[in-house]
Amino acid sequence: MRRVIVSEVLTPSVHEFLHGKRCEEADHLVRYVYNQSKTGVAINVREAARLYCGGVIRKLVFGKRFFGAGTEAGGPGFEEKEHMDAVWIILSYTYGFAIADYVPLLEVFDFDGHKKTLTNAIKNLRKYQDPEIDNRIEMWQNGIRKTNDDILDILINLKDSNNNPLLSAEEIKAQVIEMSIAVIDNPSNVAEWSMSEMIRDSRILERAIKEVTSCGTIQPSHVSTKDTVVSGYFIPKGSHILLSRLGLGRNPRVWDEPLKFNPDRHITNGSSQVVLTDSQLKMWTFGVGRRGCPAILLGSTIMTLLLARLIHSFSWTPLSSMPLFQESELNPFMAEPLIAHATPRLEPQVYQNLI
Ligand code: HEM
Repeated sequence: MRRVIVSEVLTPSVHEFLHGKRCEEADHLVRYVYNQSKTGVAINVREAARLYCGGVIRKLVFGKRFFGAGTEAGGPGFEEKEHMDAVWIILSYTYGFAIADYVPLLEVFDFDGHKKTLTNAIKNLRKYQDPEIDNRIEMWQNGIRKTNDDILDILINLKDSNNNPLLSAEEIKAQVIEMSIAVIDNPSNVAEWSMSEMIRDSRILERAIKEVTSCGTIQPSHVSTKDTVVSGYFIPKGSHILLSRLGLGRNPRVWDEPLKFNPDRHITNGSSQVVLTDSQLKMWTFGVGRRGCPAILLGSTIMTLLLARLIHSFSWTPLSSMPLFQESELNPFMAEPLIAHATPRLEPQVYQNLI
């Protein structure tokens, strides 16, 4: 399945073809932040970032704003909230410790309640998107739809060597769930952390604004395959291995002042190109090897567009009561969402012209 997605969906030509859809969602993001800023309320950057990422993946897959605008400002309505909550529940349980993962016989008892929670979350996610997928398959079968306009069309029209559909409806539905989770999780988290650090260090924010202004607008688990010893710890064959983002990214033997937000450290030899692949695993960007992220281009585009539009369209100031940014002990998110004031930096008609 990974091979199919990489060679048919995550290709440069599909990326290019879907450019307009990503931009429409970025416009929607700016309008949403603008509408809130007009009323003087501080912006919940986490919510805005997640809303944008969810909107992007649904638009790339289904070709449309799946849930409509929701609130007057463009925020999520009840259905979109329920859909997004389901994604976060699934994500938060991905690495959760469940005894039945190790003693499968206990699964029926569901002692820790994981199975029940996840079953409900998956049901909530599917109740919105599965009927849409069935409907689209039917449209192709009835000849009502004729051209590939989004990722769902591409998946439906993949053929095997006998010219039969390569993917079943169930496989397509499962892939859409996987993609939704991948697109919503990492890009929004990276953008929220970056915004926090830049709001804290206004010099870097100023530089970033200059940069975007000059450009215009813009897991599975790993299992050890043999017994091994790492730093004196014995790791038996078959162990589940979770690499530590913090352990890698803040290793003082690798990075000078590892706790300092210093984007310049990634710009080497005077080149403005940041290399996102890292075969030495000095930090946990997209991973490496066979289980590395297959969507470096898509992930970094979604995240860059999100950040660029936020800082190009608004000046950001911290709340006077803004606490120091704390990371969560349980997951890679900030312990509390980033809330900040946004003031429009562009001419009013720019925002009024957004869809
Ligand atoms: C800023 C954005 C993103 C970051 C930082 C990121 C990072 C990562 C990392 C660290 C992994 C685990 C690698 C490993 O275990 O070795 C991963 C896996 C994965 N990512 Fe991403 N990702 C991003 C965006 C995306 C997007 C947009 C997609 C959409 C298709 C995606 C799809 C996947 C998939 C399917 C895997 C599992 C690969 C496998 O196990 O074979 N990612 N990503």
